[in-house]
Amino acid sequence: MAKKLRIGIIGTGGIAHAHANAYKNFKDVEIVAGADIIPGKARAFLDEFNLAKADAYESCEELCARKDIDAVSVCTYNTQHAVCTIAALESGKHVLLEKPMTLTLDEAKAVMAAEKKSGKIVSIGFQPRYGANFRLVHDLIAAGTLGDVYYVQTGGGRRRGIPGRTFIDRDKAGVGALGDIGCYALDFALNSIGYPKPLTVSAVAYDYFGKNPKYYGESERFSVDDFSAAFVRLEGGITLDFRMSWAMHMDTTGDFLFLGKDAGLKVRQPHYELWGGAWDGTVGDITLYHDVFGKPTATPIPIEKQEKGNLFESKVRAFVDAVLTGGKAPIPTSQIIYNQAIIDGIVRSAACGHEVEIAL
Ligand SMILES: NC(=O)c1ccc[n+]([C@@H]2O[C@H](COP(=O)([O-])OP(=O)(O)OC[C@H]3O[C@@H](n4cnc5c(N)ncnc54)[C@H](O)[C@@H]3O)[C@@H](O)[C@H]2O)c1
Repeated sequence: MAKKLRIGIIGTGGIAHAHANAYKNFKDVEIVAGADIIPGKARAFLDEFNLAKADAYESCEELCARKDIDAVSVCTYNTQHAVCTIAALESGKHVLLEKPMTLTLDEAKAVMAAEKKSGKIVSIGFQPRYGANFRLVHDLIAAGTLGDVYYVQTGGGRRRGIPGRTFIDRDKAGVGALGDIGCYALDFALNSIGYPKPLTVSAVAYDYFGKNPKYYGESERFSVDDFSAAFVRLEGGITLDFRMSWAMHMDTTGDFLFLGKDAGLKVRQPHYELWGGAWDGTVGDITLYHDVFGKPTATPIPIEKQEKGNLFESKVRAFVDAVLTGGKAPIPTSQIIYNQAIIDGIVRSAACGHEVEIAL
């Protein structure tokens, strides 16, 4: 049998479990190492997966120093994404990097520079890309059904759904709902219309629920956003209207809307309490708004009610296949840097109180 792909996992917390579960299902892959800065955590993680032969480390640098590892999953919290990804690239490893790509645009640029220099690939962990309905929306728009798209509304969120742990700590997550689920809503919108370049952002961000002990039990620790909204100008005269919440006095901030010169498309939010900004690929009804013989008409588009297969496993498999075949990153940094540029722009604009330019 051909040599197996040798994998290391950096950051062995919550989402690392989904990575390990996927890798363990592949016969051509072997998890050979794990690293976590919390002493003993990587060893316990590897043992949980019966990986007694795999080595545990207490820093990403130690794991990266291993010459016999082909690729890593970077599953740390957001503020450590860039440093661990760059360390892996500089030591010659391909990287499957969890979302959001980084915290700042400068970090994202540094990751891209390291990727280019290394000749390795970095793929970003947006598993909804592998959902049947996400592909449907992308393909429908790419086929020209709507004509030129000039306005997109995206976002959504939760009425009460602030997570805990490292997600609410500015030192670790850097941003709140924006980086947790907002980046998925941005990816859905931007990928569906071909990832046009962002030019400017005007945004606001709030923390009224996270900081209020009436609504949130760990309010004294809460140091990120729980709601943000942004008006983003994209290349080609396209407007992106974004809103995302972890908590609010509302059921939804609205549906996904795509307005084109020839037709419009509405993708409804599925309206469940813990809906996470399309992180699991779930959507509600999809309707095409178009004229038939001059009459405004609404046509329901048949959707997959139940996803076939596991989106997370599909994302990990696509990365493995790209590494094994010498292919391109399935979800490339060249696209996701635009997602990151908008997140960075939202943070900057919300802080200064006016529109900011995006320097790409
Ligand atoms: N794709 C998805 O569906 C999905 C779901 C949840 C989280 N995520 C993303 O995954 C990332 C991690 O989330 P989580 O819930 O697993 O967080 P977590 O806090 O449970 O785990 C992160 C782990 O990384 C470790 N770590 C931090 N810096 C490190 C470093 N320099 N070297 C080695 N280990 C380090 C921490 O000690 C911690 O154990 C976040 O960026 C999040 O946005 C993705």
